[in-house]
Amino acid sequence: DCIMSGTGKTIFVTGGGGYVASHCIVGLLEEDFNVIAVDNFVNCIKDQSGTADINGQGSLMPESLVRVQKLTGKSLTFYEADLCNIDSLRSVFTKHKIDGVIHFAALKAVGESCALPLKYYGNNVMGSSNLMEVMMEFGVKKIVFSSSATVYGSPEYLPLDEKHPTGKCTNPYGKTKFFMEEIMKDVCAANNDWGCMLLRYFNPVGAHPSGDIGEDPQGVPNNLMPYIAQVAVGRREKLMVYGHDYDTPDGTGVRDYIHVMDIADGHVAAARALVHPEFLGVKIYNLGTGKGASVLDVVKAFEEASGQKVPYELCPRRAGDVGSSYATCELVYKELGWKAKLSLYDMCKDMWTWQSKNAKGYRKD
Ligand code: WQD
Repeated sequence: DCIMSGTGKTIFVTGGGGYVASHCIVGLLEEDFNVIAVDNFVNCIKDQSGTADINGQGSLMPESLVRVQKLTGKSLTFYEADLCNIDSLRSVFTKHKIDGVIHFAALKAVGESCALPLKYYGNNVMGSSNLMEVMMEFGVKKIVFSSSATVYGSPEYLPLDEKHPTGKCTNPYGKTKFFMEEIMKDVCAANNDWGCMLLRYFNPVGAHPSGDIGEDPQGVPNNLMPYIAQVAVGRREKLMVYGHDYDTPDGTGVRDYIHVMDIADGHVAAARALVHPEFLGVKIYNLGTGKGASVLDVVKAFEEASGQKVPYELCPRRAGDVGSSYATCELVYKELGWKAKLSLYDMCKDMWTWQSKNAKGYRKD
C-alpha cells in the first residue's frame, strides 16, 4: 500500500543534537517532514557559529543542528528541554501539533552505566516514561524508539533476528533499552490506538559524506570506529584491540557495522510508516547490514579509505563484550522496503572526511 511521504507531518525528535539523531533529521527534512527537536546539551555543544538565538527561546541550537540546516537548506524548530524535567516537554507539546515522536535521547556509555546505574535508570527509563506521559496527555500516540542490538545479550544463535530472546543484557545501559522496549509494549497493549516502532541498531558508524556532521564523543571514545579515526588523525597513539582469541575468523570481535546514513534512511522509512493512520501496535526491526566485520577488518578498511596507518596492539578481552554479533534484516525490508546500501569502505571514507575536516569534532578549542 502507498505510504504517504512526510509532507506537512510534524515529528518531535528527542536528543536531536546527537550523532544518530542529527543525521536522521537531515533525512526527515529532505523528506519534507517538519521537525521539532529538543536536547539538554549533555552530549552535544551549543552553536559555535554565533548564529543569533534561533527562535526567541533564549536557547541556541546545537552546533550539529545549525550545520544540518546549512546542509539541507531547510529550517527546523529547536527547544532546550530535558526528559527528566517533564514540564520542559509539556511546554513544547503545547506549542505544536505533533504527529509522531522519534526518541533518541539517552545516555549510552556502557562502562559508565556500570559505575552509575541510577544515573542511567533515571535519565533513560524515567526520562522516556516522562515523554510517554506527555504524549498521553496531548493525544500523541505514535513513537519510534531508538533501541539497540545490545538487548539481545550474548547471541544464542546468529544471525540475530527479531525473535531472538531479549533481556539478558549484562550492563545497565543495555537494560535501560530492554526496559524501555517492555514499557512501550505494555503501553501499546493498554492502548489499542497507539503505534510503537522499536528499531534495534547494530553498530552505527560513519558520517554525512560532506564531513560537516559526525560522531563527536566526549573524552576517550568507547567505540571502535571513532577511536580508530582519532588514531588515524594523530590524536591517539594506537588502537588497543580488545581480545584476539574469540571464535571468529581472525580471533577479534565481529560486529554488524552500519553507515549512519543508512540508519537515517531507515528512520525516514519508519517515520513515513509511523504517521500512516493504519500503523498500530508494536513493530520491531533490526537495523543492520547482515554482514559481520572483525576489528582487524575495520582497521584494514580504514587504512585503505584514509591512506593513513592505524597502529594497534593486541590486548586482553574487554569485560562484557561478546565475540560475534550481526543481524538479519529481512523483516524491515519486507515491511518498510528499507535495506542498508553502504559498504564498510564507505563508512570508513565518510568517517575519515569528518575526522580530518573536524579533528576536534564540533569544538573550536
Ligand atoms: C566494537 C568492537 C570491541 C573499542 C556498543 C554498545 C551498543 C552501541 C555501540 C550505543 C568490539 C572492539 C572497541 C576499542 C576494540 N552503543 N573494540 N578497541 O561494544 O559492539 O556496542 O557500542 O548505542 O549498544 O553495546 O561497540 O565499538 O565499543 O566495540 O577492540 O578501542 O570493537 O571489543 O569487538 P559494541 P564498540
